Amino acid sequence: MIGVLGSTMIDLVTYTPRMPAAGETLEAPEFELGCGGKGANQAVAAARLGSDVTMVARVGSDAFGDLMLDTLRGEGIDVAHVGRAPGTNGVAPIFVEPDGTNRILIVKGANAALTPADVEAAADALAACDLLVLQLEVPLETVYAAIDLGKRLGVPVLLNPAPGDPDLDIAQACRCAFFTPNESELGLLTGLPVDTPEQVRAAARSLLDRGLDAVLVTLGSAGVLRVDADGEEVVPGHAVEAVDTTGAGDAFIGAFAHAWSGSRDVRAAIEFANAYAADSVTRRGTQKSYASAAQFAASSTRPRTAHDPQE
Ligand code: RIB
Repeated sequence: MIGVLGSTMIDLVTYTPRMPAAGETLEAPEFELGCGGKGANQAVAAARLGSDVTMVARVGSDAFGDLMLDTLRGEGIDVAHVGRAPGTNGVAPIFVEPDGTNRILIVKGANAALTPADVEAAADALAACDLLVLQLEVPLETVYAAIDLGKRLGVPVLLNPAPGDPDLDIAQACRCAFFTPNESELGLLTGLPVDTPEQVRAAARSLLDRGLDAVLVTLGSAGVLRVDADGEEVVPGHAVEAVDTTGAGDAFIGAFAHAWSGSRDVRAAIEFANAYAADSVTRRGTQKSYASAAQFAASSTRPRTAHDPQE
């Protein structure tokens, strides 16, 4: 069982030939509405791969909140601890350019109303989890309360520090079993330079010195730098033709959580998650781009090494 505490957003995705300049109006050819939010995306990826997932979140009292709740239920995710907050659901206007790169704005909406009390209320459900997954689109005090709860219950915590938040207390992050920044988040949070591979490794190692068990620095298509007590290595990623990279990082986290919670094999879980994330960028959308276990098994982009460690 995987616990995901975090955000839900309705993604308002515009596919545009380029970003407009200030003051310019530009016609974009396509628009899609979908369910997103880093927390929900990670929960959905793990659930589609076959994990039991329980989510702790707040959705809005509006139609977007209804859509999000229905979607999570439809994915088989336990929503007993997904509450409502008055007002709008979180929303994310997203702009995707032809090469697949994206720009994302987030309006937290109901996500800002997720409190430490909500964490405590979910304690019994989270106690049954193999891994508790957190991100930073909900209040930091709630994230810290969840880390406290994980420690108290003996449930390992994975903190994905996205989006980067300079106010994150790195001492709190160092209480987690897994910390999964990208390079820029790593630099922002450690205050160390990350301009060269050696600097990235040194910044990641500095976190082990402060108590973290494992740092997984996501490097996009280059893969993942894994730094832990066993040493350090880059687990290579996959070069695929990217159509839309939105949510690929969340696909990685959800797939890693699925694979690791079944096997406790970090290397195999990274390989599996790298392949799953690469597969997701070959399709449009965030959650829409995530394969089911059966689809992923048949995916032509799935490398031979990426057997499901849960199989
Ligand atoms: O990581 C991608 C996600 O970031 C999108 O789904 C959007 O909702 C924002 O939370």
